[in-house]
Amino acid sequence: MTDASTQSAAHATAGHDSRGGEWWRTAVIYQIYPRSFADASGDGVGDLAGITGRLPQVAELGVDAIWLSPFYTSPQKDGGYDVADYRDIDPLFGTLDDFDRMLDAAHGLGLKVIVDLVPNHSSDQHEWFQAALAAAPGSHERSRYIFRDGKGSEGSLPPNNWQSVFGGPAWTRVPDGQWYLHLFDSSQPDFDWANPEVGDMFVDVLRFWLDRGVDGFRVDVAHGNVKAVGLPDVDAEMVEAGSMESPFFGQEDVHEIYRRWHEVLAAYDGDRVLCAEAWVSPLEKMARYVRPDEMHQAFNFVYLETPWDAARLRDVIDHSIRAFGEVGAPSTWVLSNHDTIRHRTRLALVPPPTHGAGIGPTSASKADPTVSLRRGRAATALMLALPGSAYVYQGEELGLPEVTAIEAHQRQDPTFHRTAGELWGRDGCRVPIPWEADAPAYGFSEAGASWLPQPPLWAELARDRQEGDAGSTLELYRSALALRAEHSLGSGELEWLDVGRTALAFRNGDITVVANLGHDAVDVPRGEIVLASSPLDSASLAADEVVWVRTH
Ligand code: NOJ
Repeated sequence: MTDASTQSAAHATAGHDSRGGEWWRTAVIYQIYPRSFADASGDGVGDLAGITGRLPQVAELGVDAIWLSPFYTSPQKDGGYDVADYRDIDPLFGTLDDFDRMLDAAHGLGLKVIVDLVPNHSSDQHEWFQAALAAAPGSHERSRYIFRDGKGSEGSLPPNNWQSVFGGPAWTRVPDGQWYLHLFDSSQPDFDWANPEVGDMFVDVLRFWLDRGVDGFRVDVAHGNVKAVGLPDVDAEMVEAGSMESPFFGQEDVHEIYRRWHEVLAAYDGDRVLCAEAWVSPLEKMARYVRPDEMHQAFNFVYLETPWDAARLRDVIDHSIRAFGEVGAPSTWVLSNHDTIRHRTRLALVPPPTHGAGIGPTSASKADPTVSLRRGRAATALMLALPGSAYVYQGEELGLPEVTAIEAHQRQDPTFHRTAGELWGRDGCRVPIPWEADAPAYGFSEAGASWLPQPPLWAELARDRQEGDAGSTLELYRSALALRAEHSLGSGELEWLDVGRTALAFRNGDITVVANLGHDAVDVPRGEIVLASSPLDSASLAADEVVWVRTH
């Protein structure tokens, strides 16, 4: 790589001092999906006490914060994203005391704690929705949700053509003939944010958790709260062609909500943070959620959805840093979460699966296990060298693949059931994770119980098998996180180097990163190799390998 030439420079931190406050600008945040992390009660579902017990191992990984998916009172029709009481803990997960203990333990270990907030919809068991059902059409109680009369004679057709994200119509009829809107499962009625009571309630909820000491919120469906006036039909072709905005996602007025929340958080000490789950594109539109008076971070799903392709990755990295930088926000990077096929599998699937379909035992898309592990590790090594903040999803540090061997009757994702199995859904990335190779339920639950079946492969991937093994994925993550901190890569600047069409190389401070996404061998630059995503066989990089080299 002696002919390397500087291609472009991009700035991650837009003039902010990341060494001082605003920890979130450079943080690595570890996502815990409580149902599947660690089960202390022995019922096969993870819980808060289980999380507390395993926190030292999270801290040892070298992350800065944890984000917990919902643990609130919920009938669990959508893994807890159907909240019946925003101010309490579901007995499945424990109690408010358990929460306080978990929070104290995390803070004691130097970990910030972000909790999930679900403002687009509640559970149908929420007291407001129960009151709405008991009240008459046109009542005050119904005005907190989106109830409408149907179309057609006798109103027997839904009020418009919107479809649920999980499949099927987005409307369900109640016995008195009205319909209510649910962009997700029928057990998740959408709030009507035009009613100021809804906004006031959520400000109270924010304060409830801020007062308890949380460091921030991940905001579910942040692009969905506000619907277009008049609830017009979707013209799918026009939305696709970009000539019509979705009438239910990405409406301009959602930003008002986050400006208010920004003020709520700013009144608290410490750097409390709001992170948007906003599936909008292009990145400029996503960046609007993190303007200086709104949220702080947004998940970079454009990056997550980019295939393992050098040119496309370079493009999305540049575009992200530029788009977020223009509003003074850091870019985030994310490869896996509880809604997507684990990246260790996803990036190697042939043929690539249909977006959002998931994979199952009879899917045409398959990933070669060796290629997929190499590629998954390489993708992580690339991501963790980028300036900004990164999210890591529980189990990816073990190299867990997506689990496909889950029988229909064991599947719990409403996506699978609402589409009669046409879409596999997200259970495959939610299987309880393995801690100990030889323990019951691989150390997830002493009772040996697990709400989704764990595959035999979990033994060799268990954390205790990987600990101390220099070639393991766990140790790769640990080393990468330690080096990222040591070399301040999160607050660095990225400078591209030219290494041909199927590889990527950039400098970030004194680290040069080279990634080989093609088949031709790529030279490793001179210097000290401080990280290699796979053991290097020669002086050059083979396919699906990434190295970090200390160059000066
Ligand atoms: C996004 C969450 O991440 C997902 O798990 C959930 O099903 C939907 N929002 C609905 O809340």
